[in-house]
Amino acid sequence: MIRLGVNVDHVATVRQARRAQVPDPMEAALLAEKAGADGITVHLREDRRHIQERDVELLRERLKTKLNLEMAVTPAMVAFAETLRPDDACFVPEKREELTTEGGLDIVAHRRKIQDSVKRLQDRGIHVSLFVDPEEKQIETSKEVGADAVEVHTGTYCNAAGAEREKERRTVASAVSLAYRLGLEVHAGHGLDYENVLPIAGIHEIVELNIGHSIIARAVVVGIEQAVREMKALLKKARG
Ligand code: PXP
Repeated sequence: MIRLGVNVDHVATVRQARRAQVPDPMEAALLAEKAGADGITVHLREDRRHIQERDVELLRERLKTKLNLEMAVTPAMVAFAETLRPDDACFVPEKREELTTEGGLDIVAHRRKIQDSVKRLQDRGIHVSLFVDPEEKQIETSKEVGADAVEVHTGTYCNAAGAEREKERRTVASAVSLAYRLGLEVHAGHGLDYENVLPIAGIHEIVELNIGHSIIARAVVVGIEQAVREMKALLKKARG
C-alpha cells in the first residue's frame, strides 16, 4: 500500500492569521494519524508564516507514525534538523515571495552544498529525500549526492489539463522509473487532490505521497456543519 504523508502546514496558516492558539497543527496531526495517515509532513519556512519551531518540537515528541520535515538547504535549518532529528527530512527550494514551493530543488546547480547537507543529516540517522522536478539530470544527480529518496514534483502534472495532463503524467512516471532503477526510494507530491491523485497513485514504484492543501481545504468544508451545530447548541443553552 502506498503511504500517505499529511502536510498540516495550513492548519498553522489559519492559526497564524490571528496569532492565536487554534487551530493546533498538533491536534490535527494526531487526528490525521487516527484516520490512517502514515506520516505527518511540515515545512518550517524561513519566514515562519505557518509552522513554528515549537510545533515541530511537539510533533517530534508526540507523533506515533513519522515526522517528515521539509526544509531549505540553509545552515540554520540544517543545524535545527541535526538537533531535532526528524525521521525524514526533505530538502526543498525556498523563496520568501512565493505562495508555495514553486519548483524542484536544482540539485545540479547546488550539488556541493546539497551533498554536504545530506551527509550531515544522514550522520544523525535522518532519512533524506530531495524534492526534484521530473527531470533525468536532477534524478541522476540526486543519486550521486547520496540521497536516500527523491520526492518527484507533481505540480506541473496537477496544473495541466486534458491531453497535456496525460503527457505530464508520463513525464512523472519516467522520472519515477529512473529513480527506482537507480535504487532511490520514490515519493511524489505537490498539488495532488481528490480529483487528480489516482493516476499518480497508480505509478507502482512510488511508495509515498505527501499531500497538504487539498486535505486541509476539504477538512474545513466537511467539518463546518458540526462546528456550526456545536455553536448553535451552546447559544440555545444560554437562552433556552
Ligand atoms: N511535497 C513538498 C516537497 C512540498 O513542498 C509540498 C508543499 O509544502 C507538498 C508536498 C504538499 O503540497 P500540497 O500542499 O500542494 O499538497
